[in-house]
Formats: sequence, structure tokens, C-alpha cells
Amino acid sequence: MPSPKSRRLWIGTSWKMNKTLAEADSFVDKLLTFPIPRGVQAFVLPAHTALARVRDRLPPDSHLLLGAQNAHWAGEGSWTGEISMRMAKDAGATLIEIGHSERREHFGETDRTVALKAAAAVAHGLVPLICVGEPSVVRDVGGTDDFVRVQVEIALSELAPAEIEQVIIAYEPTWAIGDRGIPATVDQIAPVMALINDVITTACGSSRAVLYGGSVDTKNAAELLTTPNTDGLFVGRAAWEPSGFIELLKLCAPLAGT
Ligand code: PGA
Repeated sequence: MPSPKSRRLWIGTSWKMNKTLAEADSFVDKLLTFPIPRGVQAFVLPAHTALARVRDRLPPDSHLLLGAQNAHWAGEGSWTGEISMRMAKDAGATLIEIGHSERREHFGETDRTVALKAAAAVAHGLVPLICVGEPSVVRDVGGTDDFVRVQVEIALSELAPAEIEQVIIAYEPTWAIGDRGIPATVDQIAPVMALINDVITTACGSSRAVLYGGSVDTKNAAELLTTPNTDGLFVGRAAWEPSGFIELLKLCAPLAGT
């Protein structure tokens, strides 16, 4: 497994349920004042309402990847409130976030729907960004490895090996996410990052990228990136202001390969 330094670093943010169109415009305009460093693959997942708007505001040669925070596995039809993979792609998505813990907890996302969505994303030429991670009650009883292994294996269960190579996994322990999240240490995440890489390489030979997320900020980002098998960071709150995102890109750039 190459060290993080010899690999492209993925640094991205989901806006979750934030930003009007005017706020999205302002974020993009400020971000465009800073050239994305070589070796860093930056990405932003706006809310569905702002996806096409952000795409249209970026210059055609922009290296910023865009994605949707969720999309349905069905091609089309009577699924009130949902969008399809095709609609997400049409609005500018390259990445599709699947299985974030907030969706698993509040919106009935299961390992099975994650698998269906991952297969639908790949079928539409989109890159699944699959989130996995254990709650604190599971970690407290030593069940993290089994829990995460099952999540990853089921998430990939509808994909052929060549399709698994296209997948990005984000390890996001639920106890580390959000306002009440407790920032994780390298020691806590390293075994799980290794396990996820192991599951993917066993399935298809090589992993595209495994990211870490959960209370990442400018204070802990560089240290978290020293974790072996870690190809980048998936950030929430600390990157919602463009200045925060730019700071993270700046401090991660020297850690990226070229
Ligand atoms: P946070 O969110 O950085 O605000 O903890 C991370 C995430 O949910 O991906």
C-alpha cells in the first residue's frame, strides 16, 4: 500500500442542509480566489438545490469535483422527495455520497439500500462515496472491526471487482461527527482504516481512496493524514466557510504527492 504522500489527497466537504443559492454563489466565488493545489483532489457536495448552480458558476476548467449527498437506486418513478442518479449527474454530480450516518439514523438508510445505491451510482458512471462507521456503543464493547467490516462488505455486495475499484469509502465513526462529536485520534482510527483497505483490496486488488471524516478541522487535519491507509479527509462544519475549506486545502497540500 503506497503511503499517503505518494497518493493524491482527497479533501472535500458536504454542505449537508446548508446554503441558499446566494450563499452557494458566495462560497464558490471565494473558493475561486484560491487555486486548488496540485496533488489535491478537492470536492464539494452541495444540497440538491444548489448543485447545478455551483456547477454553472465554476469555470469549465475547474478541478473541483461536485457531488450529491444522496440519490435513489431506482432509475425514475414515484419516489416522492427523492432524486435519481441520472438527475444528480444531470445537475453536475460526479460523486454520490451514500450511507452517511445521519441518513442511516434519521432516514431509514440500511446496509441493503447502501448496496443498491452504490450499484445504481456505478451503473450511471458516478463515483460512490460510501460512508461507514460505528456508534460509540459498538466501539465501547470492542465491536468496531466486525461492525465496519460488515458495513463495507454489504455496501460492495452488488458490485463486480472492476466496479469496486471505482468506489471511495469514508470512515466516519458516528461518535466523532457533528456538534457533539468527539474528535478521533490516529490510534483510534488507524486499525479501521487498515481494515477497510484490506476489505477492498481483497475484493478487487486495489483501493481508489479511503477517507476519514468526523470533526476534522485545521487543528487535527495534518495529524489525521499521517494515519496509514488514509487518502484524504471528508469534512463538515470546518469547511462550510470558504476560508475554512481554503485553510484545509493549504495545510494538506504539502502532504500530497504530485
Ligand atoms: P463534521 O461532519 O466534520 O461536521 O463532524 C463530518 C461528516 O458528517 O462527514
